[in-house]
Amino acid sequence: MTSQEDRPAGVFLAFEGGEGAGKSTQVARLEAWLTAQGRTVRTTREPGATVIGGTVRQLLLDPSTVGLSSRAEALLYAADRAQHVHEVVRPALEAGDVVVTDRFVDSSLAYQGAGRTIPLEDVRSISSWATGGLLPDLTVLLDLPPETGLARARGRATADRLEAESLEFHLRVRQTFLELAAAEPARYLVLDATAAPDEVAEGIRTRVTELLA
Ligand code: TMP
Repeated sequence: MTSQEDRPAGVFLAFEGGEGAGKSTQVARLEAWLTAQGRTVRTTREPGATVIGGTVRQLLLDPSTVGLSSRAEALLYAADRAQHVHEVVRPALEAGDVVVTDRFVDSSLAYQGAGRTIPLEDVRSISSWATGGLLPDLTVLLDLPPETGLARARGRATADRLEAESLEFHLRVRQTFLELAAAEPARYLVLDATAAPDEVAEGIRTRVTELLA
């Protein structure tokens, strides 16, 4: 947790969660609500928010990518993140915008750390170097059982390389997201993603209102 001291002016929100948790729906709803309040909002995502990141995303998620080592995977997610922070997140925060990202550092801790069983501290230090220590002001964790989320995600499209991992992998991912949130309750909002989308959106608006006050 370095260089929060050179933290730019805007507000930084991240959405995290397993597959099929409804992050993109809730990011879009929050964006619409904040914009209606007169805020300038920059919604973004990982991996793949930049042109360079788009190439990295394709490599990472294409099921035809075979033989990628866990360490190489972790570094590619970190490379995407470094470019994302450099090109999108920091400039928008410096302009005073509200930046809402669909996934950030915690996804690497959960998927590469717990999922691939790379020591969490190694993943944290790679990510921290990639971001220059930048962390969200608030992370919204949309929590749901992986059985439910994977069924939702697989109903939409063919499974990408990470979705195609075992249920045990996704159970470790969920557990780690919950542990990260439990360790720092002031920086997290955990919501039950099996609830109705309206209810989830209301919970997010309440907490974001407090944060922006
Ligand atoms: P998405 O489907 O939410 O866009 O996310 C892409 C996939 O990449 C998803 O399965 C989670 C995974 N992922 C990681 O494994 N590590 C990371 O650091 C990030 C940002 C995503």
